[in-house]
Amino acid sequence: KKIAVFISGGGSNLQVLIDEIHQKYGEIVLVLSSNSNAHGLMRGKNNEIKSIVFDSKESDFDEKVIAILEENHVDFIVLAGYLKIISSKLVNKYPGKIINIHPSLIPSFCGANHYGLKVHEKAIEYGVKISGATVHFVDEGADTGPIIMQKTVSVDYEDTAETLQKKVLDIEHYILCVSVKKMCEDKLILKGRKVKVL
Ligand code: GRF
Repeated sequence: KKIAVFISGGGSNLQVLIDEIHQKYGEIVLVLSSNSNAHGLMRGKNNEIKSIVFDSKESDFDEKVIAILEENHVDFIVLAGYLKIISSKLVNKYPGKIINIHPSLIPSFCGANHYGLKVHEKAIEYGVKISGATVHFVDEGADTGPIIMQKTVSVDYEDTAETLQKKVLDIEHYILCVSVKKMCEDKLILKGRKVKVL
């Protein structure tokens, strides 16, 4: 399977896909960043993966992105720390073929204005005892698509947003790798909102 990975920042999720999935279960053929100085771009380039910047504010953004995805025969897209909302045009072009990793147990602490450290600040502020990460299919909303996998972490009294972020990032890497491997093996069965992982 040919995979495109969309990033906006450090790309630690991209890196684990490069290390664990790339040229083993699938091939990452494209890294697309919404941010020209995302460190994740270097991760792609260091592994000879075509790495490009697309500013989603550009007028014909969707057409350009779809053209390059088709040009590279992309089978599915992974949003890994990508901070822009995917347009319905792109979602409908790749139905059931776009997955996202979010650093909380959806439907808690998610949506357009919950990203990065803010997610963990809200969890700490609320005083939850567990948090975690979610991999889900992308639909037209923000973090609202059918859930593929979730994994929890304990939130201790001493935890700060930063210590929680670190705990959650470690398990993001784990569940993203398992989910992408299952995508490569066509082992994710989507029925309505329910996902069966074979
Ligand atoms: C992290 O907050 C992660 O939880 C979310 O995007 C941010 C950056 O991830 N998925 P990465 O290190 O760029 O993969």
